[in-house]
Amino acid sequence: MEIQMWKEILTPYELAVEELQLKFNHMIKEYRQAGIYSPIEQVLGRVKSISSIIQKAQKRNIDIDKIEENLFDIAGIRLICQFTDDIYNVVNLIKNRSDMEVISEKDYVKNIKESGYRSYHIIVKYKVETVKGTKIIPVEIQIRTLGMNFWAIIEHSLQYKYDGNIPEHVKSRLSAASDAIITLDNEMSSIHDEIIDAQNFVTIKANIVTEILTTIQSLYKVANKQEIISIQDEFYEIYQNGDLAKLQRFARQLDIMAEDYRAQTIQ
Ligand code: GTP
Ligand code: MG
Repeated sequence: MEIQMWKEILTPYELAVEELQLKFNHMIKEYRQAGIYSPIEQVLGRVKSISSIIQKAQKRNIDIDKIEENLFDIAGIRLICQFTDDIYNVVNLIKNRSDMEVISEKDYVKNIKESGYRSYHIIVKYKVETVKGTKIIPVEIQIRTLGMNFWAIIEHSLQYKYDGNIPEHVKSRLSAASDAIITLDNEMSSIHDEIIDAQNFVTIKANIVTEILTTIQSLYKVANKQEIISIQDEFYEIYQNGDLAKLQRFARQLDIMAEDYRAQTIQ
C-alpha cells in the first residue's frame, strides 16, 4: 500500500488519540482544580507506527485490507495511576462515560501474565468526526500503576533487544522484579490514605494561595498603596507561619474587603 494511503487511513486514529488525551488530561485538571485527588496521574497516547502495523498483520496472517477490522490497538491510550485501587476507579469512570463504549476488557492486574506483565486493558469504540464523515475507531486503553509501567517499559525494551527471545536467566530476573513491584504497589496502597491526605493538603493550599494573590491583585486597582503593603506583609506572615485554617480565614477577609471596594465603586 502506498504511504499516502496509510496516512489517510491513520488520520482518524490520530484524531481519536488526540481527543482522548485531551479529555483524560482535562479530567485530571478538573480533579486538581476542585482540590480532589485524581485517580489518573498521567496520560500517554500513540498511534501504532506503519511498520508495527505491517509486522503485526504479517505475524497474524491478516490481509492488509482487513487491518482495520482486525487490529484494535492502532489507537492506544495509556493511563498511569499512583495506586492499584485507582485502576479500578478509572475503569468505572470509563464505563460510565457516554462518549465511549467498552467492547472488551482484560484484567492482567488480577490475572498476571506469565511474563510478569500487569495492566488492565480495555478496548472501547470511540466516535470521531472527520471531513469525510463520522468514523467509529477502536481504541486500546491500558491502565496501570507507575510501578507496572516501569516494569512493562523495561521488559518491552528487553524483548526488543533479544528479538522476542529473552534468555531464561533474564526472564527469571524480570519475574522477580515483577514480584517486587507487586510488593511495592501493596506497600504504597497501605499508606494510600496518608499520601492522599498529604497531596490534598498541598493542592488545597496552592488553590487558596492563588485565590489570595488574585484578590490582592484586584485590590491594587482600588485600595491605597499603604493598605496593600500591609495586606501583603500579613499574607507573607501567615503563609510562612500559619496553618491552612488561618490562610482560609485570611482569604475570606480579603474577599469581604474586595467586595466592599467593589460596592463603593458602583455607588
Ligand atoms: P498483542 O498481539 O500484543 O496485541 O496481544 P493481544 O491482542 O493478546 O492483547 P494483550 O492484551 O495481551 O496485549 C496488548 C498489549 O499489551 C501489547 O501490545 C503490549 O503493549 C501490552 N502487553 C501485553 N503483554 C505484555 C508483556 O508481557 N510485556 C509488555 N511489556 N507488554 C505487554
Ligand atoms: Mg492487542
